[in-house]
Amino acid sequence: MKRVHLLEIVDEDWCPRSIRHAVTDYCRFVTERAYSPVAPLLAQALQKLSARHVLDLGSGAGGPWLHLHPLLREMGVDVTVCLSDHNPNLEAFERARRLSHHSLTFDPEPVDATQVPGELAGFRTMFSAFHHLRPDQARAVLADAVARREGVGLFECGDRSLLTLGGLLGTPVVVLLVTPFIGPFRWSRLFWTYLVPVLPLVLLFDTIVSWLRLYSVSELRELTAGLDGYQWDISTVRIKPLPNKITYLIGRRGRAPAASLRRRLPDLNTPLHRSQAKAAFTRD
Ligand SMILES: C[S@@+](CC[C@H](N)C(=O)[O-])C[C@H]1O[C@@H](n2cnc3c(N)ncnc32)[C@H](O)[C@@H]1O
Repeated sequence: MKRVHLLEIVDEDWCPRSIRHAVTDYCRFVTERAYSPVAPLLAQALQKLSARHVLDLGSGAGGPWLHLHPLLREMGVDVTVCLSDHNPNLEAFERARRLSHHSLTFDPEPVDATQVPGELAGFRTMFSAFHHLRPDQARAVLADAVARREGVGLFECGDRSLLTLGGLLGTPVVVLLVTPFIGPFRWSRLFWTYLVPVLPLVLLFDTIVSWLRLYSVSELRELTAGLDGYQWDISTVRIKPLPNKITYLIGRRGRAPAASLRRRLPDLNTPLHRSQAKAAFTRD
C-alpha cells in the first residue's frame, strides 16, 4: 500500500492548544521507552561524528529524551540536547528540563523543521515527527542537513503493517486508562478525556492518519537519492520483546557503504551478491 498524506487534527491551526499539547504529552508517555533500541545506533553515529550537540526537531512534549539521554551517557556519549517544535509545548519542555537536571534544554521560539535557523547547530533528530512532512518537505529536511554538514537521525515507532495498525486501534482505551498518570498535570486533559471525551477520538483519528503517513524503508531510501557524500543507514529495529518495529534513518558525513561495497564486489548482479548488498543495508 502506498503512503497517503491525509489531514492530522493536531497539524491544523484551528486545533485548540490544550488538545494539541495533550496529544503530544500522550505521545511522549506511550513511546518514551519504546525508543530504547535505537540508543546504540544513535550513540554510534554521534561518536563517529564526535557530535557534542543534538537539536531535536518536532519534540512535542520532549519525546523519548528523558529516557534516552541517560542511556546515551551510559554508552559514553555525553551530548547536550535542545528540544524544539513549531508549536512549542513549553510546560512539557520545562518539565523535561527540570527532571533532567538541566541536561535537556529547549528553544522557546517556534522552530520549523523545514527551515531550521542557521544558529541552531547540532546533530538533528526527529522522533515520531518525520511523518508530518510531505515528501518534498521531508527531502528538503534531509538536503538541508547535508548542506549544513550536520548528522541526522529520524525515528518512527512502527511501520505501515497491519500489526502496527492493530495496536493503534486500541488507542481510545489506552487513553482512558493512562490519562491520570501523564505529566505535566493539566485539568484540561482530564476535561477533554473524561467530561467531554474528545481526546480519545482525536488520538484514534490522528494515530491512524499517522500510520498511513509513515515512510517505509524504501521510501526513505528514495528520499536520500542523490544526497551524496553521506552515509545513510535506513532500516528497522525490533522493540523487543514485542514484534513491533522502529523504522529509522541515520545519515552522517562519510563515504556511502554502497560505493565501498561496489569496489569490493566485482559483480553485484548475481543473486548471492544482491543478498550481500541487501544485508549491508538491513539491520533487522
Ligand atoms: C507526534 S508528535 C511527536 C512528538 C515527540 N517527538 C515525541 O516523540 O513524542 C509530532 C510533533 O511534530 C511537530 N511538528 C510537525 N510538523 C513540524 C514541523 N514542520 N516543524 C517542527 N515541528 C513539527 C508537532 O508540533 C508535534 O509536536
